[in-house]
Formats: sequence, C-alpha cells, structure tokens
Amino acid sequence: MAAVTALALTGCSGTGRGEATTGTDGAAAGFAADATIGIALPDKTSENWVLAGDLFTQGLKDAGFKPDVQYAPATNTVAEQQNQISAMVTNGAKVIVIGAKDGKQLGTQLQQAADAGVKIIAYDRLIENTPNVDFYVAFDNFKVGELQGQALLDGLEQRSGHAAPWNIELFSGSPDDANAAVFFNGAMKVLQPKIDDGTLKVVSGQTDVAQTATQGWKAENAQSRMDSLMVANYASTPIDGVLSPNDTLARAIITSVKGAGTDITKFTVTGQDSEVESVKSIMAGEQFSTINKDTTLLVAQTIDMIKALQKGEEPEVNDTEQYNNGVKVVPAYLLKPVIVTKENAAEAYANSPKLLEIVKAAQ
Ligand code: BGC
Repeated sequence: MAAVTALALTGCSGTGRGEATTGTDGAAAGFAADATIGIALPDKTSENWVLAGDLFTQGLKDAGFKPDVQYAPATNTVAEQQNQISAMVTNGAKVIVIGAKDGKQLGTQLQQAADAGVKIIAYDRLIENTPNVDFYVAFDNFKVGELQGQALLDGLEQRSGHAAPWNIELFSGSPDDANAAVFFNGAMKVLQPKIDDGTLKVVSGQTDVAQTATQGWKAENAQSRMDSLMVANYASTPIDGVLSPNDTLARAIITSVKGAGTDITKFTVTGQDSEVESVKSIMAGEQFSTINKDTTLLVAQTIDMIKALQKGEEPEVNDTEQYNNGVKVVPAYLLKPVIVTKENAAEAYANSPKLLEIVKAAQ
C-alpha cells in the first residue's frame, strides 16, 4: 500500500521550475543537454569513493553535462552533505546522484529536490524513508554478502590446517549505511546454517548486526573491537577466521590478530572493494579474498541513466523488487559483483591495468 501511495505522489510532484515537468508515468520530460548534474559523495572511507568522483567529473564532461562533484568532509559529515545537496538544488542541478553518508537523514533535502523537479539517483547506498528517490544503481549488495560468506568457508577449509569446527568472529559495516545490513544478511544466509550445525563457532557470541557494527566504516574502530575480542576470547584458543565486510576493515583486523600472535598464513579474512593494499595482501598470502565492484562500470551505468533522463526517457532498470526503502520499492539497476582470491586475481583484474600489474608482479 505504501509503495502505491508513494508512486502516486511522485507522479504529481514535478512542479517547480517550468522545464522539468513530470509525465504521468513519473518520467521527467527532459532537460538541457548541458545541464548541471550534482554528485554528492560521502566521506572517503574507501578507494571506490575517490575513484567515483574522478570518473563522474570526467564522464559527465565527456557527455556534455556540467558536473558539480562534492564530497562530504570527515567531520560534521551528515549536516555538510545535507547542505551540499540543498545547494545543488538551489543552483539548478537537474539530476543529483547521491552516495549517502546517512541514508536515513536526507528527507528534507530530497523533498526540496522533488519540489524543484530534480531527479534523484541513489548511488551504491540506498536512501531510506523518503518517496523522493527515483532510482538506485549499485552492485548487488546481498550477493556481495553471500560471496563473502562462502569465501570465509572456503578459506577456513583451505588455510586453517584442521577440520571443523572453526573459531570465527563477525564484523559488519556502519549502521548509518543501508548497505551494511544487506552485506551482513547476505553473508549470514551462508554462515548461519554452519553456525547452527556447529561447523562454525563464534566464540564471543556476538552474532547480530548491532553487536558487530563498525561505526563510520573506520579502520580504527574495527581494530579496537578486534583487539578486545582477542583479549577476551582468544588468549588460549586460536582464531581461524573473520568475516570482514570490506578491505579497509580486513587490513585493520589483520593488524590486530597479527599483533596478538596469530599465524596469518592459517587465518582467513574476507574483504570487498579490491583496494590496492588489499590486492597486495592477497597476493602475499595474508588477506584471503576481496570483491571486485568495478567503479568504472557503476559510474558508466549511472551516466547512462542521466542521459536517459536528459532525453525525457525512462532509464533502464533490472530490479523492481529488492530495494524497499521503507516508503517504496526503488527501481534499481544492479551490477554483478565478482569474488577475487589469489587464484583468480589475474582473470578478475584483466581489465584493471593497475591491479593486474600488482598481480603479475607477485606471480
Ligand atoms: C560500499 C563499500 C565500501 C563501504 C565503505 C559501502 O557503502 O558499498 O564498497 O567499502 O561503503 O566505504
């Protein structure tokens, strides 16, 4: 019911500035081919965000648009991002692409955008509790989690040097990022049955998303939680592996367990993002896995959506079921993530010259 009401609402919301009128199906009637496009990105908690800003600037220019790319600063991040989005609306952006710092706190700004006929694309992270998000473009987050869960099991088998049961701990991302729970739930779909049948033992007993959270996706928060877990649970019991939701946190976890004397060649930790330092770590036999979410593809897909909107066409989507933001199901275009270990790294990075070079140098 909520979704139907929300759609009806967006159908009549395109008033505001003359040219951005809204058709009966909710699609914009198009806008100038050299329009300003706002890109509001979060703080730079991983390399993918840095890359995205550069690719948007170049790609939008190449397509004839005027890019306005802004990052939320590391302090006062939520309020600053809110201000940046408001300013983009005031300055006449026709589409605003948002990688949200806190996906639940943009309701006011997105209402302002809707009133002005501005289309909103949620990029990588879903924006929640507002009808005023038009599209979502991301890698399939639930699949990322499933791949991470399976990689943890594979790594434990290959590296631990013993049969089950295996002692593990679980980490999830920042609670203000809608992705964090989706990654975790995807992983737990694979891991929960193995916890239930005794194959895996979470020695600390901390198995829910709140207990495992890493505020702000910050490495120091993961490292200090891991340090505490080691002291409290692994003084005399070895740890075999950790579910880590991304590369930054994986490297912090490695630092912690190494510091506590763990034999890293027998330890398994997962990751995500294919960050340079993590690809090196994988090739050196430390981090076990990462995920390749090629930012080039994600940005290109988003720019395709913007081009469709510019022409007054309906952008292509391939999922209209999974991403309910609490008010409506947001039509999404989901790309396919790829699991990477030492074994398939050369193949996985065939189109990423910088990463391929690291792989080749280590082989
Ligand atoms: C992204 C991840 C990233 C994390 C921290 C998430 O929303 O999907 O790729 O590792 O944010 O920056």
